[in-house]
Amino acid sequence: MVVAIDGPAGAGKSTVAKAVAAALGFTYLDTGAMYRSVGLAAAERGVEPAQIAGEVTIELGERILLDGRDVTEAIRTPEASEGASRAAADPAVRRAMVAQQQRIVASGDWVAEGRDIGTVVAPEAAVKVFLTASAEERARRRAAQIGADVATVLAEQTIRDERDSTRAVDPLTVAADAVELDTTGLSLEDVVARVSALVADHREQ
Ligand code: DC
Repeated sequence: MVVAIDGPAGAGKSTVAKAVAAALGFTYLDTGAMYRSVGLAAAERGVEPAQIAGEVTIELGERILLDGRDVTEAIRTPEASEGASRAAADPAVRRAMVAQQQRIVASGDWVAEGRDIGTVVAPEAAVKVFLTASAEERARRRAAQIGADVATVLAEQTIRDERDSTRAVDPLTVAADAVELDTTGLSLEDVVARVSALVADHREQ
């Protein structure tokens, strides 16, 4: 079973997806970490992300391993975020990542987090949630997480949001059958309870 959690940066996807996975006993899949790893590998090697997307080995878990090296922190820098957004705009990179993600969620129970889980990676997902929050709230959360200035994060976030939602391949869109959940002003507990209720509803059907 797949629970798809999509939405823009800073909507609280990671925190919510991890907490929902823990609550349900499902495994958490962070697809953004895959784009981040490809972006980082490309920057380090000075090549285009598409050239290496099919070659690098990305292991996801408590720590993110890129070809066996721990890049958990390295993929979270502002430069890595920028590189990930660029990598994710490349159709060849997306093809490679989506194929891997589909293999991963083909068996077992998953809470998969990203931008295109409900639309592309797992269109048959049992439950699809599209998390949003106001741009200011998202920037505030991200700034607090990485210890940066809100105005700077907001400016960078606006550029990335624009690129993520207007790119030619798999732009950030809400699946027709997704439940939109605005997390502005909601506690983590509230959001987790709502998503868990959607899963419970699905199981009762
Ligand atoms: O969720 P995140 O910030 O870690 O994602 C990093 C980048 O990858 C971001 O620019 C959005 C993109 N991404 C994507 O296009 N598709 C996904 N399924 C996950 C992330």
